[in-house]
Amino acid sequence: MIFNIKPYERDIFNLLSECAAELDVPAYVVGGYVRDRLLARDSKDMDIVCVGSGIELAKKLASKLRPRPRVTVYKRFGTAMLRHKDLEIEFVGARKESYRSDSRKPTVENGTLEDDQNRRDFTINALAVSLNERDFGTIIDPFNGLKHLEEKRLKTPLEPGKTFSDDPLRMMRGIRFASQLNFELDAETLASIKHNRNRISIISKERITTELNKIILSPLPSVGFKLLFDTGLLHLIFPEMANLYGVEVRNGKGHKDNFYHTLEVLDNISKHTDDLWLRWAAILHDIAKPPTKRFEPQHGWTFHGHEALGAAMVPRIFKKLKLPLDHKMKYVQKLVRLHLRPISLTKENITDSAIRRLLFDAGDDLEDLMTLCSADITSKNPKKVRRYLANYELVKERLIEVEEKDHLRNWQPPISGEMIMETFNIPPSRPVGDIKNAIREAILDGEIPNEFAAAKEFMMKKGEELGLMVDRV
Ligand code: CTP
Repeated sequence: MIFNIKPYERDIFNLLSECAAELDVPAYVVGGYVRDRLLARDSKDMDIVCVGSGIELAKKLASKLRPRPRVTVYKRFGTAMLRHKDLEIEFVGARKESYRSDSRKPTVENGTLEDDQNRRDFTINALAVSLNERDFGTIIDPFNGLKHLEEKRLKTPLEPGKTFSDDPLRMMRGIRFASQLNFELDAETLASIKHNRNRISIISKERITTELNKIILSPLPSVGFKLLFDTGLLHLIFPEMANLYGVEVRNGKGHKDNFYHTLEVLDNISKHTDDLWLRWAAILHDIAKPPTKRFEPQHGWTFHGHEALGAAMVPRIFKKLKLPLDHKMKYVQKLVRLHLRPISLTKENITDSAIRRLLFDAGDDLEDLMTLCSADITSKNPKKVRRYLANYELVKERLIEVEEKDHLRNWQPPISGEMIMETFNIPPSRPVGDIKNAIREAILDGEIPNEFAAAKEFMMKKGEELGLMVDRV
């Protein structure tokens, strides 16, 4: 296995070795950095463990670096951190931890390197590389982490029940690594996640969601979601999604399994975007299918209104998962609400007006909406897939054509509310809104062009209909 490091990282290790010798404290680089370099993955976080004071070691290293970095000391935890180039280097004294069953807060004692490796989550994260003169660069691997890296296996160093009950977030981390790295969870480790799943309740929503987002951003997010589902964690952390699972059959008619369909859409979209929120839109696009499901003897299964109810569910889900309640949530909500619209435009004899309305409603998010809709095609029949995709190409052409003609993207009303108030000498009131809406509808319907003069004439006509007088002063 090759240890891929950059020249300036090697310089840091040499300096650290000097510092460790001067302070007479054995020091090691451990954890995610070692794992990632062995996997030739990039990572900016470097964890240094020493058998002694991590804070002193950090200060010593800082005194040798140019420019000299500031050392941030976390007294309460006995740790320190400094930044050098693009690296964030954390220093900690080796410890031995034991947890109480009712809390995540450990009692911490000083320990040996071995103690420190014992308390880590997975064997591949428990590898240490010596920075000491006598065995500089040696990999210390008490739990077969190197073998597990080769086998792409996630296994806890200790009995998994202990590792997971010490810190139940590790169950999420295990699934996240499986998804990010395309590794397999060892059978005993996986069984233990199933067994200990209820312990996740003592972990904060924020930390759970951080892991969930990393699963969503992995190359094939379905890997992580299937594990979340199979272990029962998904039912606890995100029940609305687990609820998509299952097929009901009535009168010989079944519907598709919306859980697996959603995962296919998510994997599909992940080939085209790394945007977390567009991936969230894929996860949530059919979220309201279970509560809108009906069986109509004539038509079979229907999910009428699932796009509107789904959009209404987005804020609740974001709030529960402590996701941001800002423009990102609004964006996801909008894509969920609009996700059926492009399909309806693939029918024959679609008017310009329907196309204009989609341009108006989707605005800048039109491309993302089309990406979502293309990902939503999950038919197993390649002929059908080709036909649907070709239909979308036609819709895209129409959208471009109509946009060039009517400029409705990010539409600004040609007549402002102020102008309506001034023209008719009226205060802010209902007729102002009515006239504005009527102008917008007339433009979208193609009754008048999207231009100032036409809109003004239309305003005058509308005002007259409403019995308003023109202010001629
Ligand atoms: N660790 C642990 N249990 C946790 C979190 C972290 O045992 N709940 C240990 C692991 O040895 C891990 C190291 O602390 O490798 C550093 O943790 P962190 O920086 O959170 O994770 P990484 O493994 O570096 O992975 P990533 O940066 O992708 O989160």
